[in-house]
Amino acid sequence: MSRLQRLAPYLFTEIDRAKRAAQAAGRDVIDLGIGDPDRPTPAPLLDAMAAAIRRPEHHRYPANRGSAALRRAAADWLQRRHGVTVDPDTQVLALIGSKEGLAHLPLALLEEGDEVLVPDIGYPVYASATLLAGGVPRYFPLTADRGFLPDPADLAAAAGARTRLLFLNYPNNPTGATAAPGFYAAAVAALRGTGAVVASDAAYLEVVPEPRLRAAARLRCCARRTRRASASWSSTASRRCST
Ligand SMILES: Cc1ncc(COP(=O)(O)O)c(C=O)c1O
Repeated sequence: MSRLQRLAPYLFTEIDRAKRAAQAAGRDVIDLGIGDPDRPTPAPLLDAMAAAIRRPEHHRYPANRGSAALRRAAADWLQRRHGVTVDPDTQVLALIGSKEGLAHLPLALLEEGDEVLVPDIGYPVYASATLLAGGVPRYFPLTADRGFLPDPADLAAAAGARTRLLFLNYPNNPTGATAAPGFYAAAVAALRGTGAVVASDAAYLEVVPEPRLRAAARLRCCARRTRRASASWSSTASRRCST
């Protein structure tokens, strides 16, 4: 079986198909599908993007890590907002979206048959990216009685000799749960010694109020973090022309 054949149908495509069928049948539908703000992109952002697209230096390939100015701005923002120090040259990478980072991380880290700890319930891309990279998703449950946070002891028990990666996502899609300070340190401690990478998908970092959101940004060691600017600023389509 090819890696492609191992993939289940993409959940959001299926939801969209069901939505369109219901609408075509005249039903009033509340869209609980993909996270995509229904408010317009703020005007100052549109103005800045319109001005940027006219600058000739933006018409050529950027450095493959993203422009130095963009990486520096991202590092400055992390410092200012979350008190986290990162090196813009070695610890910041510009992507076309966090999904790109999530999908490429298993390709970069896994050999055929390596395992990835994936939250169940969770964003489906963690499992599909694992399968596309030839890996095996090992699901750990997120349950209401634990505030949709995994028990670090369960993570430690689930990690085996072939575990290479753990995906965490707080603020969480789809439960809305947030992680209290200390949770990430416990998760990292649970996997210490395994060599596995803890990946914090902080896509929704900016949509919950302080101070809980800081927990995700303070994950410093043995971790990779992805953040998306697009949804926080009602511009999920725009990043493709802003990178
Ligand atoms: C948890 C989570 N991570 C990542 C993404 C993808 O974000 P981006 O638009 O930056 O690729 C989404 C999009 O719905 C998401 O829900």
